[in-house]
Amino acid sequence: MSARSLSLHGAAQILRPPSDGLPWLRGHDISAQTLEPGDLVVRDGLIAGLGGDRGSDIVVDARGCAIVPGFVDCHTHLPFAGWREGEYEQKLAGVGYESISRSGGGIAASARALAESSDEAVLAQAEELAAEMLAAGTTSFETKSGYGLSRAGELRALRLARELGSRVAQTTLSTGLLAHAVPAGFTADEWMAEVEAMIPEVLASGSVSALDIFVESIAFSNRQLERMGALAAAGGLALRTHVEQFASHRSVPVALDAGARSVDHLSMLAPEDVPALGAAACAAVLLPVAEFMGAEHRAPGRALLDAGALMVLATDANPGTAPVVSMPLVIGLGARLYPMSVRETLAAVTLNAAWTLGFERTRGSIEPGKQADLLLLDGPVEAIAYRLGRNPVLAAFIAGEPVFVRDAAAAARITRR
Ligand code: NIG
Ligand code: FE
Repeated sequence: MSARSLSLHGAAQILRPPSDGLPWLRGHDISAQTLEPGDLVVRDGLIAGLGGDRGSDIVVDARGCAIVPGFVDCHTHLPFAGWREGEYEQKLAGVGYESISRSGGGIAASARALAESSDEAVLAQAEELAAEMLAAGTTSFETKSGYGLSRAGELRALRLARELGSRVAQTTLSTGLLAHAVPAGFTADEWMAEVEAMIPEVLASGSVSALDIFVESIAFSNRQLERMGALAAAGGLALRTHVEQFASHRSVPVALDAGARSVDHLSMLAPEDVPALGAAACAAVLLPVAEFMGAEHRAPGRALLDAGALMVLATDANPGTAPVVSMPLVIGLGARLYPMSVRETLAAVTLNAAWTLGFERTRGSIEPGKQADLLLLDGPVEAIAYRLGRNPVLAAFIAGEPVFVRDAAAAARITRR
């Protein structure tokens, strides 16, 4: 961690939670976030407080800018190999995800690409994406396995995720998406037995913080979701879930019973399941890029927010359903599609996403003592969704260090002593 000090002066808006120490923002706490003008001081990589300090090692002229916490992208499928742009052509012509999948495309195609790529090629692609993510304000992100589709393949994917984490500026957290598609030669139950057998090795790696499963007709069932939940609980790992994406399987009550940390996608969420999720200590992770690009149904985002849900937005960055890494674009789509207010979108990509990854005590909001993962935006926060698709990030700081500076004009705002 940096021993230097940093101060940012004259910001037009600083996003702050209504009080310090909140684990998440839901209900009234979302609209109670403040966006007052001010200054911010960072020492030793941690936020020291609001207020100026012209004697800092690094002084930033933040006039006209907004300062927000670095974006936390809590659902990505990095690292993966290559892309599947040909499938998008098929989708635009009306071919469905399931039929692409059943004819050898989809997850299986990315699994073949991963198997055929060298470690260095996979890491090079993922590092390039991580740099793109940083430039768009993502200061921490989740990685997932899931394109290994064999015991050795999944363990390799987890090892590559760990290696990626050591190479990029961001903090990464690794999820074992050990049940993504049923590998050839296995039934779903046989594969779950294989998953169970590999858990000791997964735990021994020490780098995995969650398990994940894709519940869908082309993948796994609620019964296997229960089993993954039991494996996660026994291993002391969080349970993440891909549920209710293409069809309603009423997986949310099952996931809640299994103690899931998050239920992701929810495009086909049954209205009856909204109240329970609204009251649960479980994140509702909506993935608007996958919904938009896949012409999927729309998750009941507004109803979930009104029910008090712990709402999160993420990219779902993957070569199939969401080949996008920009959180500003996710904010813009989420705001319009569900719809969400500016404060709702910001809570969904900062503190709530940090809770989903289990590091809300140290990241995700601007409060004294938290790691200084900060973004300097070139205009008011309201412009993020409004100027859809444009990147407003002038500079990104991780633990108080400027790790991304957009251009000469942005650099001219930063004085090093
Ligand atoms: O989150 N839904 C399952 N998994 C990914 C898609 C993976 C792929 O198509 O490669 C998702 O959308
Ligand atoms: Fe996903």
